[in-house]
Amino acid sequence: MTRILGIETSCDETGVAVLANGRTILANEVASQVDVHAAFGGVVPEIASRRHTECISQLTELALREAGGAPVDAVAATAGPGLMGSLLVGVNFAKALAYGWGVPYVPVHHLEGHIFSVFLAEEPPDFPFLALIVSGGHTCLIWCPAPHRYEWLGTTRDDAVGECFDKVARLLDLPYPGGPSIQKAAEAGDPAHIAFPRSMVHDGTLDFSYSGLKTAVLYQLQEGADDRADIAASFQAAAVDILVEKTKAAVKRMDAPCVVVAGGVAANRLLRERLQEALPVPVALPPFALCLDNGAMIAAAGASRLAHGHVGAMTDTANSSLPLQ
Ligand code: KG4
Ligand code: ZN
Repeated sequence: MTRILGIETSCDETGVAVLANGRTILANEVASQVDVHAAFGGVVPEIASRRHTECISQLTELALREAGGAPVDAVAATAGPGLMGSLLVGVNFAKALAYGWGVPYVPVHHLEGHIFSVFLAEEPPDFPFLALIVSGGHTCLIWCPAPHRYEWLGTTRDDAVGECFDKVARLLDLPYPGGPSIQKAAEAGDPAHIAFPRSMVHDGTLDFSYSGLKTAVLYQLQEGADDRADIAASFQAAAVDILVEKTKAAVKRMDAPCVVVAGGVAANRLLRERLQEALPVPVALPPFALCLDNGAMIAAAGASRLAHGHVGAMTDTANSSLPLQ
């Protein structure tokens, strides 16, 4: 049995997991900092890195205890992109453990981690597939022809969709993080109440734009709209429509046999339902618990990288704008 330790510290969640044979979760511990950052309405980078430092050792001890003890066969960590201070904590901790145990250190791209969260679902997809990654920092369509090969098809020209959920929640005085708050508020609202713009939907590209939608919500509030449930429902419908339409276009362009959806916003129930209804091909989704940042997805990507011989060196470091290649 091969056991991989996976460490995720790119933003405001410290995640440590142990995965057996690339698929079975033996431990998956996440220390969320949401309550700390909620008071500021968003992530404060300095606080995030300090928190990672405070809890990473204990969280790793806990995960290793649950998984039958140390050492493991490799240590994978998110090397980027993300907040530099936060990434440095995870990468250096992972390298120190790997060095001490004499096992490989495996750097993992955060988006590759999100993609591999789908391989932890009951029915993992086969390559090739189209990936829609939707998170607080990314909104992109990526063609994945084979393991660890990526072709960018489109990305956001301004805000990420999760960032837009977070900003609109702030405008509506809903708590951080915005995605779950808006989803909840929308349950009591009418999605057809306000016809928010679906920017760039029919422009022929696979790129996204979300800053206009956020501004449209602001204008509605300035003009006196005050029913938070209706605004939340109408906003969520527009945000999801854009993702569905662009993904449909990408499936057609690539003749994709399957679509993988991952990242924090993949936890959104309306998005999951609409994609499954609207796409002509199967949609592979991670379990709800693995949509948000976690160590298990990093361990899954790390296990595959290890199997393909892609390991890192002790001289490798974190890169806040690491490209996916
Ligand atoms: O992947 P993730 O944990 O962190 C990043 O890599 O950014 O995603 C966090 C993002 C936040 O913007 C949060 O508001 C959003 O995912 N999110 C949601 C939902 N749950 C989390 N957005 C919409 N609906 C949700 N249910
Ligand atoms: Zn993420």
